Amino acid sequence: MTTRVFTGLKPTGSLQLGNYLGAVRPLLDLAADPGTDVLVCVADLHALTVDHDPALLRARTREMATTLLACGLDPGARLFVQSAVPAHTELSYLLECTATHGEMTRMVQFKEKAAGSDSVRLSLLTYPALMAADILAYDTEVVPVGEDQRQHLELTTALARRFNARYGETFVVPRGSTPPATARLKDLRDPRAKMGKTGSDGAGVLFLLDDPDTAAAKVRRAVTDAEPSLIHDPATRPGVANLATLLGALTGRSAAEALVGLRGSGALKAAVTEAVVGALEPVRRRYADLAADPAEVDRVLRAGRDAAAPVAAATAARARAAMGLLGVG
Ligand code: TYM
Repeated sequence: MTTRVFTGLKPTGSLQLGNYLGAVRPLLDLAADPGTDVLVCVADLHALTVDHDPALLRARTREMATTLLACGLDPGARLFVQSAVPAHTELSYLLECTATHGEMTRMVQFKEKAAGSDSVRLSLLTYPALMAADILAYDTEVVPVGEDQRQHLELTTALARRFNARYGETFVVPRGSTPPATARLKDLRDPRAKMGKTGSDGAGVLFLLDDPDTAAAKVRRAVTDAEPSLIHDPATRPGVANLATLLGALTGRSAAEALVGLRGSGALKAAVTEAVVGALEPVRRRYADLAADPAEVDRVLRAGRDAAAPVAAATAARARAAMGLLGVG
């Protein structure tokens, strides 16, 4: 028996270290287990929920797929672009007919992104139904995600259960898998806010494709404090705690262990820089190789789509039939 693993990442920007430690590396760890069967999608439809530039979206979609491969995702894993598999949107509509308006408006990400804007795309509200469709389309059992996606995952589970109870067993009920320490890496310049692809002006965000000088400069300007002793205390010393978490994650230790033997934020930043540059270098190198041959990346994406599409189509057909859609004529 294999365990089906699925995750998605939306190409609203370049992959950053929070994505890597919160979702990509846990995914790769799961994929290394021969007992798992992995599907990954670049969730381009999700990127349409906010204002976007079509040419940039196209470029970022390919960049994200290439970066995932550069991180070590096996080209044999089924990596595909969400919009290339039409069953996602179909299933999303069927799930919208299972969800309530109240559930959608309660989503923290919706509230945060809609706050202060007088023109919110309707798709931003219905986004969790599409994410649920992504997951449920593949009879997914495990979904590696960071902390910020946990509420969406809980909704997915609730919708799957409700659908099964109302219309008969149709969906596998998935569970999330969130890494304990790095589920919410913080912005280096604002260590109380999440590190995000589109967050701040990018000064506190370590992108996977940053060159060593850029990464070093960002770490140097990270917000810490003047206290020479270093302890891991996210409540009172969020900047130090975030760097310690990062250092620990990249060197296979806990945040507290990573601080042992270091004194002062200069020493901490030097250690973080070394670890970050060391982790990013091979990714950048592989990215350059892969990007030189976009046709090969396209081949991987097409093979991923061809493998994913029949699975998703079969699930959508099951859901349609369960809901009483006749599907004739
Ligand atoms: P997205 O594209 O914002 O983020 C991709 C993954 O990275 C995680 N993540 C983080 N983890 C730790 N620290 C951070 N600072 C950090 N920032 C981001 C996210 O939790 C996520 O796991 N809606 C999803 C994409 C999606 C999806 C799916 C995920 C679409 N369909 C189906 C799982 C299953 C999103 O916007 O993630």
